[in-house]
Amino acid sequence: MDAVRIYGGNCLKGQTEIQGSKNASLPILAATLLINGICEIENCPDIADVYHMQRLLESLGCKVEREGTLVRVDTRCLRECDMPADSVGVMRSSIMLLGALLARIGRVSMEYPGGCVIGARPIDLHLQSLRRMGVVIEQHEKGFSAEAARLKGAVFRLPFVSVGVTENLLLAAVLAEGVTVIKPAAREPEIQALCDFLRMAGAKIEGKGSDCLVIHGVESLIPVRYSIPADRIVAGTYMCACMCAGGSIFLKGAPAGDMRSVLDQACRLGAMVECVPDGILVTGRARICGPCVLRTGCYPDFPTDMQSPFMAVMAVCGKTGRIEENVFENRFRIVPELEKMGADISIVGNTAYVNGSRRLHGAIVQAQELRGGAALIVAALAAQGTSIVVNRHYIDRGYEDIVSHLRELGADIELA
Ligand code: UD1
Repeated sequence: MDAVRIYGGNCLKGQTEIQGSKNASLPILAATLLINGICEIENCPDIADVYHMQRLLESLGCKVEREGTLVRVDTRCLRECDMPADSVGVMRSSIMLLGALLARIGRVSMEYPGGCVIGARPIDLHLQSLRRMGVVIEQHEKGFSAEAARLKGAVFRLPFVSVGVTENLLLAAVLAEGVTVIKPAAREPEIQALCDFLRMAGAKIEGKGSDCLVIHGVESLIPVRYSIPADRIVAGTYMCACMCAGGSIFLKGAPAGDMRSVLDQACRLGAMVECVPDGILVTGRARICGPCVLRTGCYPDFPTDMQSPFMAVMAVCGKTGRIEENVFENRFRIVPELEKMGADISIVGNTAYVNGSRRLHGAIVQAQELRGGAALIVAALAAQGTSIVVNRHYIDRGYEDIVSHLRELGADIELA
């Protein structure tokens, strides 16, 4: 039962509500470790990565309860210990615990984090930066141990923009001694959400949403109740589903303001997009109006996480287009799978050339990572006949019950 069967060809219609953001909830759950008390995180998506983060928090002595979409984390019994290697290994965001734990208990020992295989994904910049805050780190083949008395603020001129490093340094800096400057800081909406959460808890952070964050360390933070914003990548994926299958759908709660570059590309591909106060209305099948060139980059540029779903759309849009992947070096792994469905895509370096004049047909294809897996489902909605996407567990890492959501929108899809 680790697969999804899709009978392609149905137009989509109706509405679906967009879940809370995975990439916002993971660092915010890690951030609860900075606070001695009970935090309540609302709108927390019920997905495998959040489950693993909950397990990691529990392994550290926290009491974690879920009531619907509310996750309550009680950190009063936080203790130093070994974290379950399977949860650390499966999820890149486990690295987020490093900054928070060093700030709160000064000692961490963990295996190297895992995550989607979309490139080398090293953690060198995380470790190098934390060393500058006074952390002593000893690395070994499988992992590392890190130790610090009170962390010390530092001025960072980072060699490139990293979402994870910005988040880890924020977590380390809010309780550090003195001032920390992070430049260039990533500006993703999920980092802004983390800043909001930390500020509500009493952290002193300036520059939210800019490429320079200034953090004045404080002695302690207070427990808060915070609601996770909607997931812009999930909203974008369902938008792509509608562009592939055709039809008209309403994405309730979709954060249009955070999706500018994605909505622009959707319009260039021929979709009609209307942003209303409580969501986004998407109409249409993709039809390229002019040449489509898509380049991934740091926010506010086009997000790398939307690249695979857009590749599925471009594969059926009727014209040729080009995708440049500028963030991760191995993010074209769905190409051979899309080819099994009849897609015509060639790769040269970091660029994929997509000939969208083909009609896709059903096939048995393999999800190999989270967003690519979801993109295969998106492509299958436009394919003639039946497709099976195996390795559903990758998709479950980030999508709350994708099958039910797409059924709600009229897709002919079931667990297999
Ligand atoms: C986060 C997101 C992920 C998204 C990515 C880019 C979460 C949980 N994940 O991942 O969905 O695709 O941002 O928007 O929020 N790098 C190094 N050394 C390091 C750290 C990063 O070389 O120590 C490199 C990476 O290999 C990559 C680039 O920096 O090529 C950017 O990665 P980063 O922004 O750190 O991505 P993540 O935080 O892993």
